[in-house]
Order: sequence, then structure tokens, then C-alpha cells
Amino acid sequence: MGGSCAHRRPAGPWQVLLMFPFLLPLFYPALSEPIRYAIPEELPKGSVVGRLAKDLGLSVLDVSARKLRVSAEKLHFSVDAESGDLLVKDRIDREQICKERRRCELQLEAVVENPLNIFDVTVQIEDVNDHAPQFHKGEINLEISESTSPGMRTILESAEDPDTGVNSLSKYQLSPNDYFSLVVKDNPDGSKYPELVLQKTLDRESQSTHHLVLTALDGGDPPRSGTAQIRILVVDANDNPPVFSQDVYRVSLREDAPPGTSVLRVSATDQDEGINAEITYSFLGAADKAQHVFSLDSTTGNIITRQPLDFEEVERYTMNVEAKDRGSLSTQCKVIIEVLDENDNRPEIVITSLSDYILENSPPGTVIALFKTRDRDSGENGVVRCSLSRDVPFKIHSSNRYYKLVTDASLDREQDSEYNVTITATDRGNPPLSSSTTVILHIGDVNDNAPVFQQVSYVVHVSENNPPGASIAQVSASDPDLGPNGHVSYSIVASDLEPRALSSYVSVNPQSGVVFAQRAFDHEQLRAFELTLQARDQGSPALSANVSLRVLVGDLNDNAPRVLYPALGPDGSALFDMVPRAAEPGYLVTKVVAVDADSGHNAWLSYHVLQASDPGLFSLGLRTGEVRTARALGDRDAARQRLLVAVRDGGRPPLSATATLHLVFADNLQEVLPDLNDHPEPSDTQMELQFYLVVALALISVLFLLAIILAIALRLRQSSSSAAGVCFGKGLCSKSKQVPPNYSEGTLPYAYNLCVPGGQTNSEFNFLTSVDHCSATQDILNNKDSSSVLLASILTPSIEADKTFKQVSI
Ligand SMILES: *[C@@H]1O[C@H](CO)[C@@H](O)[C@H](O)[C@H]1NC(C)=O
Ligand SMILES: *[C@@H]1O[C@H](CO)[C@@H](O)[C@H](O)[C@H]1NC(C)=O
Repeated sequence: MGGSCAHRRPAGPWQVLLMFPFLLPLFYPALSEPIRYAIPEELPKGSVVGRLAKDLGLSVLDVSARKLRVSAEKLHFSVDAESGDLLVKDRIDREQICKERRRCELQLEAVVENPLNIFDVTVQIEDVNDHAPQFHKGEINLEISESTSPGMRTILESAEDPDTGVNSLSKYQLSPNDYFSLVVKDNPDGSKYPELVLQKTLDRESQSTHHLVLTALDGGDPPRSGTAQIRILVVDANDNPPVFSQDVYRVSLREDAPPGTSVLRVSATDQDEGINAEITYSFLGAADKAQHVFSLDSTTGNIITRQPLDFEEVERYTMNVEAKDRGSLSTQCKVIIEVLDENDNRPEIVITSLSDYILENSPPGTVIALFKTRDRDSGENGVVRCSLSRDVPFKIHSSNRYYKLVTDASLDREQDSEYNVTITATDRGNPPLSSSTTVILHIGDVNDNAPVFQQVSYVVHVSENNPPGASIAQVSASDPDLGPNGHVSYSIVASDLEPRALSSYVSVNPQSGVVFAQRAFDHEQLRAFELTLQARDQGSPALSANVSLRVLVGDLNDNAPRVLYPALGPDGSALFDMVPRAAEPGYLVTKVVAVDADSGHNAWLSYHVLQASDPGLFSLGLRTGEVRTARALGDRDAARQRLLVAVRDGGRPPLSATATLHLVFADNLQEVLPDLNDHPEPSDTQMELQFYLVVALALISVLFLLAIILAIALRLRQSSSSAAGVCFGKGLCSKSKQVPPNYSEGTLPYAYNLCVPGGQTNSEFNFLTSVDHCSATQDILNNKDSSSVLLASILTPSIEADKTFKQVSI
């Protein structure tokens, strides 16, 4: 164990002595120098510090006898009772005992009794590297802003090592890293402290914490160390601006989106944290029009519409949106909102020129209106097509955005005087929108309609003896044209009357079309006439129409029958008829011949005996007027007979005439004459005259009769088989039967147009059987002087057999 006490320092002469403990007792009494020992600390208990007894010069025996012991305030040592060695009694910790002191010595006293001696003993405790450097806290937490610039230093906590000397703390080490380095500095007291130096800018966003290990080492051999964990929290600095997810936001929006529609959401992120990452959004550019239309939620970045959109006004909105964090870093992005067109505008029709009045004779293709269309929508929504209301005679010509409304057919004002032409414009949107405009078009009148009479022809019946000035008919024509073009006036343009006499017969009121008789008509003179009336409008040129007006003059019983035979002689004396004495009953004595200028019933004559000297002797044919003997003449009968005959027509009231017949039975004229002389004696001259007259009469009668017979014979020969009647010009014409009066026309024996071609019948006058070949006779008769009067008594047996009577008149 003594070998272990090798740690000795060359410390003056007493140290030398200690090296030679055997020398010590020699000087002991003389030297009161303390005995010095040096031991390392932390020796185990019982370790020998030094041979105290021996160094005091005591023998082993003396140790127990003299009771060698040590005393001190605190006893770390003890004395071995047998050997007298100083032993370690308790643990000796230099750091505990001496703290920081560099020199650590324990003072103790060695006491011996018998005699009592006290010796000072100094035990120097040598340091042993029994402590590692140690940090006060094993963990160092630092916060360093990422904005800190390189070069920044932070003093770190120093480690402590209670050992001294070389065993004390000698250096620090930092775990390898990119950002930090370590500088060790000296304190004025010689201790060292570490400083952390920032080498490179930190970036929280890439690494928010750093973990380092600080190691403190002492200078012992082997060195001991202590570590501390350094946790560096990188504090955020607002070093990152917000970043939008897109540089440009593009979105399309229908223009009919209602206010409040969410359009899009811009979004920016900030890599910073905390308030440095709190982003607010705003529009950039204060007076941007878009800001009235859209609103931006400053926290969410939601953009919504505030107002209705109108593609026609703005097709595209471009806005700048700024995102800003609390640290005032900002970024911008563009928001482009395209407005999509919707078919929200009706097409418009713009009429640029219009003539709303056109003449009805305008040819097809006449331009009425010029118009164009407008639709503010675009694309198909703005493509416009025009159409017209149905059933109008118009069409649309389109040329180059302009449209022409033209007539498509000929117009007729009389049919449609006005058109409501509705033009409809429709676009091609879905659904299509349309609008329409109505043009009221007035059609102007042209004189294109002639007046039209209400009847194809007019027939009027007028009774004769009408008062002059009476209206007898009215014609009426209509003209659908307008104004003067439709104003009709009437006139007589032609007639079958003698042109010069026309105006004395009829006139027409130009305005009313009333036809007036200008005189009293006489059926016996004029039975019918025909007028051509004209209706004429006042257009330019004027149009006219003709109509025929047939005036039939009706008969009135205004003519009394006129007895033609027997007639009075020139001197007023009566003539006589001679009857053979031997006349058989039924012998035709004579015939009363009378005419009536009227016609029909009014001229249908009947004969009546008013008075007779011998009523039973003669019979009178009621209709024929034939006087026949009723019986044979007796001896007692007077030779001279007188018959008073009344001739009555069929009119109502009837008119009549009387005739007196003087009948003489004689076989010859001589026989008669004396008889006659008995009677009112006519004077010789008168007698003579009468005689000549009779002779002339008889002659003429015979001649006339011959002529007629000749004519009849001719006729009969020409048409032996024809059922022709006998015809007399301007007289009665009949076939071989009594006249059956037909009053449908109201006139009988029509004095005109007696000769009409065979086969043709005039329905108005069908009671008159047409007589075909009478023209020859008529010609003969026409040759006669119209003023001459031909009187005849027709007593021919052949005619008699036919029981036909003929009246001859002018
Ligand atoms: C045309 O329109 C007008 C006014 O709207 C109306 O009075 C008239 O009766 C219409 N005419 C036709 C032929 O429809
Ligand atoms: C009407 O009659 C007149 C006279 O006969 C004639 O000149 C005219 O042409 C006729 N007009 C018509 C339309 O027939």
C-alpha cells in the first residue's frame, strides 16, 4: 500500500522528509513542522495514508502504549492501533471537502500520551477525475426566428465539472449540422462557455425544429463528458407571401344568373403560420366596374354576383384579386369571368320606310315597306327570320339584312280595302323569342269596276193613257268603286223609237234611274218599245254598262167598236142588202163588220140584235156578225126588213156601237128600186150618187176579193202542205179558228211583228201563232197608201165555209 502513495510533490524540505519518513523522528523534537501526507481522493476505507507512528518516531509498541490517535473537527482518518499507520476512515471527496479550492489540505493533529505530545499532520487531498462535466439542465430550448441573419450568437449554458486542473472542463462539442457552429469563449475566471453561432438562414417552412447535442468534455484521461440536448424551435417570420392556387381563374357564367350566384372561389395559401398565414382577399383597383357587379368575400375568397348580368353590355369581366396576409405580404391573381349569351333579347323590327297607301292596281312586287331586324343576342340567338301573317297577298324579300315587304298578288280594294300585315321576327335561340309589328295598309281605289245593273234586262208594263210625267220604271246599277269611281249616272243611249221622237216619249233621271213617261202612251199606236239604258260611273276613264228596258204598253178599253158595214151612204142614207126571195133558211144575207182599235177582250166584239121588224126571220152570229135567214120567207112577210144591231166589245165596262141593217127581199135590183123609192125619197142626184157608190163599192169589193183570192191561191200553191194561216199586213192574223184570247200579255192582235220566221215563237206573244210566209201578202198591202181606207164586206162562200172573219185595219 505504501507504493500507492506515490503522488508526492516536491514541496520544500518537509516534503523531502516525507520521502524519507525514517528521518523524521530525528528532527521531531526540534522541528515542529507538520507531517504532510498527500493522497488522492476517494481512496477506499482502510487505505494507508502514511506511516504515522513511524514518522513520529514511535515504535510499534509505543503505538498502543502511548495511545496514538488523531483528532480533527471531522475525522476522515483513523490510526491503526497496531501499526500506527494513518488509515482512511471515511470517504474523502475532494470536491466536497474543498469545493472550488485549488489546494485541498486537511489539518489534523496526532496525539500521543505518556508524554503527551501533539503533532500537526497535514493531509493533502489530490484531485482525481471522478466527475464528468455536467450541464445544469439536460435540455436547452431555444427559439430562433427564421428571419435571423447568419452570425447571430447565443450564449449557451456552461457545463460544470467539479474536478480541478486538467480534470476540469476543457472543451465543448456540437453535433454536426448545417446551420450552427459553436464558439467556446473564456470567462474572466478562466472557465469556458459555449456560444451557438448561426451559420445559415433558417427556414421554418422547410425545417421548423433543429435538434443538436452539445457535449462538454474535461481534460481527464480518459476524458469524461456530459451532454445537453439543444432543441431549436424556428420561429415563423412572415417571409412567405400568399400564393394563389392559380395565376388566372377563368370561369364562364350564364348571363341569366341571378344576383347572389356563386361564381368561383379564389384560394391562396401561405406557408407561414399563425397570423402570418391569415389571408384576406380583396379586389385590386378601386373603381373597377366589376366590383359593382361582383362581390368578394374577404375571408373565403368566394366571388358572387351582386347584380344581374347582361352579355350585351359586358361580355367579359377581368378583375385583379389580391390576397394579403397579416404581415402585409400580398399576391395578385386574375379572375376572368366570361358571360355566356342567353337568348334574352327579343328581335326588333325597325321599319325604315313605309308607304301605307297603295293603289289596288299596283302590280305584284310593289314595295310597301323597307325594314330591318335587330337582335342584341349573338350567335344563333341573334339570327332572325321574318314571317308574315297568313293569307295576305304579301311576301318578304330579304336582302343583306334588309327586308322588303312587297305585294305578292294583285289587290282588290273592293274585296279588302285594308290589310293588317303582321310581320313576325323570330330568332333561332332555344327557346326562340319573337316580336311582331303590324302595318295597316290601305288600298286605294281605282276605277276597275263597271257599274252592274241589278237585272239583266228590265220589262215594264205600262197601261196606256198614263198621265204624262209618271214614273214607269226604275233601273238601278251598283258600282263597288269608291267616290266618283262608284258614282253612277243613268242615261238612255239607244231605243227602237225614232231618235227624234225619243225624248218626247221617255226620259230617265240621271241620278235615280227613274224612267218617266213624257206623254200618254196609246196602245193602239205603240204597243211596246225598247230602250237601252246606260249606267256610267264618273271615273277616269269612265266605265259603263248597258241594259235593255222593254216597255210594254198595256191596252185599255178606250176605243168603242166602229161599224164598218153597213155604212151610211154619202148623204147619210142607209144602204140595203138584197135577199133573194127563195133564200133557204141559213142563207147568209150579210155580215155586220165592225172593228175595235183596242186589243184582246177590249176588241173582242159581240153582235146583238137590238130591234127587228120580224124577230124570227133572221139570226145574227154572236161573234161573226153574220146575218142569216132563220126560215124561208113567207108570203105574208114584208119584203123589207130592218135590223138594229149592237156591236159590243169585251172591255169592262164594254163599249158599243149600233148599226142598222136594211134587208130587202127581191130577186133583182129593179124589183128593189121602186121599193126603195117608197122610202124616204132621196133626190135624183142623191139617188144617182148612191147608185154609183154602190156600184163602185161592189166593183172594189170584187176587185179586192179577187186580189185576196189570188193571193191565197198563190200562197196555197207555194206551200200546199203547210198549215199556214192567212196574214194581212198590219192587221189581224190568225189561223183557221176563232181567236182564243190569251191575256197573259194583256194585248191582243198585236199589230206589229206579225211575221216571224217559222218555228220561232215569241213566248210573250205565243197566243199568236207564227205565220211564216206572209211577207208576200204584206208586201202587197204595204204598197198601198197608208192613208187610204179600204172597206170590204167579205161574203165569199169559201171563206164562209171556213167561218173565218177578217178584220182589216190600218
Ligand atoms: C286592323 O287593326 C285595326 C287596329 O288594330 C283594327 O281596328 C282592324 O279591325 C284590323 N283590320 C283587320 C282587317 O283585321
Ligand atoms: C252601250 O250602248 C251604246 C249604244 O248602243 C254603245 O255605244 C256602247 O258601246 C254600249 N256599251 C256597252 C258597254 O255595251
